[in-house]
Amino acid sequence: MAKVNIPKFKLNNGMEIPALGYGTWLGMNDKFEVKMEDLTKLVDAMSYAIDVGYRHVDTAHLYRVEPEVGLVVRRKITEGVVKREDVFITTKVWQHNHREADVEASVRASLRRMGLDYFDLVLMHWPMSISVEGVDEKIDYLDTWRGFETVLQKGLVKSIGVSNFNLSQMKRLLAHCKVVPVVNQVEINLNLGQEDLVSYCKANNVQVVGFTTFGSMVGRAAPATLQPKMDNPTMLALGKKYNKTVTQIALRYLYQRGVATIPKSISKERVLENASVFDFELDNNEMATLAKFDVGYRTEKAPFWQHYENYPFEDPGVATFEIPLSLRKWKDCDNYEFE
Ligand SMILES: NC(=O)c1ccc[n+]([C@@H]2O[C@H](COP(=O)([O-])OP(=O)(O)OC[C@H]3O[C@@H](n4cnc5c(N)ncnc54)[C@H](OP(=O)(O)O)[C@@H]3O)[C@@H](O)[C@H]2O)c1
Repeated sequence: MAKVNIPKFKLNNGMEIPALGYGTWLGMNDKFEVKMEDLTKLVDAMSYAIDVGYRHVDTAHLYRVEPEVGLVVRRKITEGVVKREDVFITTKVWQHNHREADVEASVRASLRRMGLDYFDLVLMHWPMSISVEGVDEKIDYLDTWRGFETVLQKGLVKSIGVSNFNLSQMKRLLAHCKVVPVVNQVEINLNLGQEDLVSYCKANNVQVVGFTTFGSMVGRAAPATLQPKMDNPTMLALGKKYNKTVTQIALRYLYQRGVATIPKSISKERVLENASVFDFELDNNEMATLAKFDVGYRTEKAPFWQHYENYPFEDPGVATFEIPLSLRKWKDCDNYEFE
């Protein structure tokens, strides 16, 4: 079987995070329902990912897949493929668990669902606090962060971080926290370079983990004029030079910027492809050429959250519908009683 060797980035608490991990969000269909029909394929692809050498898995309470993700990890431990300490497992606390004490309840529930004793990393999924009824609870994320510091102190997690925090939210958090987050997980890709945020995080020893790293190249609606697409000549030429696909060029670019990535795929072929980006190097000119695709275009704006306190993005556009129910209430992950 093919194997990949994935390098690691050092975190500010001395731990190491593999520079590329396996993402487990199944995505949504056009009715804004999570594509649960792909769950079996996700389980197979994730098992394969660990077999070929992935050692980092990204999940969340929201994703509805914690039980299956936990099962795969435990099975791979039983099979002797990995030890628990070899795999870096991240989960996230959803928006309706932002009261300080609810953070611990959420983390304990995630541990129970996954059948694990600890997480390597737990993230505050978003800076906003929104009840299951869609009410803006306006809980300050600094208060929520104290709940994160508590679960760290209690040993339920080895490190704590945030997600979808913008630059000013990061500055405010770092000015007031006792424990500096190890990670800020944000959308980052060729069209959304996040230069200021990445520079600030680097200067302050916070590792950036990127999601939706293919941006509008893969499976997303985007303006026709937005480049690169999969057939972009610059990308194809680089792919030809290094014998890589354009998606591999995109992942490699982020790695050379010091950004960890967590691409999701339910295809074994693409699981292997995505992790096969550590055997070539883009030169400085090529990095500069790729940087020019950064036009600040965000794929995931979630405009239905724009009026909630601490919504992090500028220019959300027009909200044409309310928060999809699937982002507020769901079955099987401890809030089944709401459906
Ligand atoms: N913190 C947050 O708010 C947040 C938000 C979004 C995502 N995330 C995390 O980040 C992970 C990745 O983000 P994402 O799921 O938005 O997007 P992604 O990994 O950038 O893209 C996933 C899409 O790309 C396809 N794909 C994967 N590899 C490919 C390749 N080599 N060539 C062509 N197509 C490929 C997948 O299809 P196939 O499955 O069919 O291959 C899927 O349609 C998520 O799974 C989740 O863990 C976090």
